[in-house]
Amino acid sequence: MKFLQRLGHIRFGRQLPVRRFCQETAPRGQVLCGKTVAKECRKRVKKQVKEFQEIVGRAPGLAVLLVGNRPDSAAYVMSKTKTCAKLGMPSFQYNFPESVRESEIFTTLDYLNKNDSVDGILVQLPLPKHLDEDRLIQYIHPHKDVDGLNVNNVGTLTSYGDAPLKACTPSGIMQLLVATGEDLEGKHAVIMGRSDIVGKPMASLLLAANCTVTVCHSRTKNLQTHIGMADIVVAALGKPEFVQGDWIKDGAIVIDVGINKIPDPNAPPAGSPSLKGKKGDGMKMVGDVDYASCKPKCSWITPVPGGVGPMTIAMLLQNTVNSGWARYKLAQKE
Ligand code: GUN
Repeated sequence: MKFLQRLGHIRFGRQLPVRRFCQETAPRGQVLCGKTVAKECRKRVKKQVKEFQEIVGRAPGLAVLLVGNRPDSAAYVMSKTKTCAKLGMPSFQYNFPESVRESEIFTTLDYLNKNDSVDGILVQLPLPKHLDEDRLIQYIHPHKDVDGLNVNNVGTLTSYGDAPLKACTPSGIMQLLVATGEDLEGKHAVIMGRSDIVGKPMASLLLAANCTVTVCHSRTKNLQTHIGMADIVVAALGKPEFVQGDWIKDGAIVIDVGINKIPDPNAPPAGSPSLKGKKGDGMKMVGDVDYASCKPKCSWITPVPGGVGPMTIAMLLQNTVNSGWARYKLAQKE
């Protein structure tokens, strides 16, 4: 309950009917729909953008840097900038060729760090191998670090269990977990993956919610034994349909962070006309969880697509508004 109070800005009670289940007695196979929860979050952010605009005289702005030609990165960046537009937030996109020199990105970051219309800066990851990802990320001003990757923001999250700017995917997952209506206290959460952007901040947030947390990774022994003990499974290991239903404890909550494309004989073949004017590619999107075998076993499961993905973008825009307010208040004090 304390945790719910601390996330005071989340008002599911009014907008979403919170049904209180006990995980043991909850129906099996309930779909934890990120699309629905993200829609509520976006509505809240849109309202906050309007308030910000009225008081500050401008809307909070997001700058996004995209390097190279990865179609997945380009698609994510497009989703981010499109959502900004829908919520009335300006976005500034900087595209660089794969071969860009590191110094050029540092120069752009310098400009954006100093630009008062920019409240959030995001460098789309992964970056090409010749670029020092960590050095570039740490160069973003901590007050504009909407990915929550700056060591100052990571430290705040780790020490205090919360931070004004925290990693978007774990932050969105916490909102999804709250939306289940389940009491998280004392639950055993098993996270698969120890990345800076998902696994580690996820562990901090779940610990702050009084879960018992196990972080598994590529060197973990007896992975299935750990998963079998979990009340909450967060799968973020990047292996298509890896987690199987018979590994999962009956009634567990399963959160699938994976976004993988695999060949699909039923999908429109590569190059053929497909839905919404997009070309077919003969592939389908799947998560890190084998949805068909896990769904009947668990109390709640996030689908892919339409689960964690929409929450990540909603949290990015929430971070941008948070950053805008924090910077505005700081400027008022000076
Ligand atoms: N690439 C995949 N997910 C993310 C994200 O959340 N932030 C950034 N910067 N890059 C990503």
